[in-house]
Amino acid sequence: MNTPDRRQFLKTATAATAAAASIAPFAIGAPKGRRALESVNLGVVGTGGRGTGACNDSLTINDNVRLVAMANLRADKAKEKRAGLKEAHTDKVSVEDANIYGGLDGYKKVINHPDVDIVLLTTSPGFRPWHIEEAVNAGKHVFAEKPVCLDPAGWHACKRAQEKAEAQGTAIVTGTQYRRQKNYMEAIKRINEGMIGEPMSATARYCSTGIWYRDREPGMSDAEYQLRNWMHFIWLSGDQISEQAVHNIDVMNWVFGNPDNCFATGGRFTRPEDSEMWDQMTVDYYYPGNKLVSFRCRQVPGTTVDPHNVIYGTEGSCTIKAINGGASIVDNKGEDVWAMRGNIGAAYRQEHKDLVDSVVAGKPIVELQQTADSSLTAAMGRMSAYSGREVSWDYATKTSKLDTFKHDLALHQSMESPGHAIPGEWKLT
Ligand SMILES: NC(=O)c1ccc[n+]([C@@H]2O[C@H](COP(=O)([O-])OP(=O)(O)OC[C@H]3O[C@@H](n4cnc5c(N)ncnc54)[C@H](O)[C@@H]3O)[C@@H](O)[C@H]2O)c1
Repeated sequence: MNTPDRRQFLKTATAATAAAASIAPFAIGAPKGRRALESVNLGVVGTGGRGTGACNDSLTINDNVRLVAMANLRADKAKEKRAGLKEAHTDKVSVEDANIYGGLDGYKKVINHPDVDIVLLTTSPGFRPWHIEEAVNAGKHVFAEKPVCLDPAGWHACKRAQEKAEAQGTAIVTGTQYRRQKNYMEAIKRINEGMIGEPMSATARYCSTGIWYRDREPGMSDAEYQLRNWMHFIWLSGDQISEQAVHNIDVMNWVFGNPDNCFATGGRFTRPEDSEMWDQMTVDYYYPGNKLVSFRCRQVPGTTVDPHNVIYGTEGSCTIKAINGGASIVDNKGEDVWAMRGNIGAAYRQEHKDLVDSVVAGKPIVELQQTADSSLTAAMGRMSAYSGREVSWDYATKTSKLDTFKHDLALHQSMESPGHAIPGEWKLT
């Protein structure tokens, strides 16, 4: 904590804080015996596209942050990302070579680094619940990208982490940026205020024309290949429904609560031979009060792109479009009653402002449970589609022992893929 470099940074940050004190004074003290911080040090685990994006978002929106440690499977790639971040945020990037870690265990060095206050967890999703739990157990504040779990075992790990973070007073903010996007917040506020009457049903879609596929490089072990091409291996991505469409499912849970049960179908026609992913899934989610969400996701070249949500109420309907598509409400006569544009970039940055502000104020936000519930809702849809059976919330949270993660993973190990799931053969466990 007290390297000369950090002391200098704290001095500078404190001066800046004092200058800004008349606008927004920091709270003195912290709940549950934790110290409030005036400035915070970030460490990132997983410096791919989103990891670098999350660092950039936090360094852009917050004055009082500094990036000090990085972990990535390949340390050389993290160094490349450090160079780009340093160019954009010269004074806020202070990552020595010694604080850049590679390999499967590098994340432990970031999590346990004494200078790191907030850990950004942005690897492929399979690692997430286990990295979250370890970071919380190390007493760190956490930013966790979505999805935060891929199966019931991961959901239980998140539940433990939520409880521990609440008890010890550490923050967990998650990468479900739509919860902080103005047009989404305003639309859901209006739904809750009754502008569409009682919400009864919805369609939620994440239909697109495809996703990346990364070829195996010469000399790679099975494990290295799967980690590189992680989207196509279910233990790492959870299939499209978890990795991508969890955004829509999270919005549905925001409106309707958690579902009681679901029934799903789907299949694959276009995926590369060794991909375990399906290329489409359709799920009926039944929510309390006999409310139905008709969900579908698809990644098929040459098909219609539709990543939007429509919520139908007794007196009107609300359309909330993805990314910057905006939101609108019409009444049952078809009259426009409200509309608002979207700005997803601002939402990505807001999650990092909220996290840092909450840490600095000593009033940590702990929002893991709602994202764990949405991530489990996505996993339930996949479990139902793969098995060909109905899956209930009770089954997923109380009975299922499904744990897809490879806890004894080694980089050079052979690893046979089970292939893609076939309904009727794939068993619920
Ligand atoms: N909120 C959003 O809109 C949004 C957008 C894009 C991606 N994401 C999420 O962000 C996460 C990362 O996606 P991405 O597009 O950046 O993937 P990516 O493949 O670009 O990056 C993943 C990085 O994690 C590293 N990594 C994997 N396992 C690791 C481990 N055990 N220890 C250290 N490093 C490890 C890899 O080396 C790679 O650099 C995913 O969960 C994805 O769903 C969210």
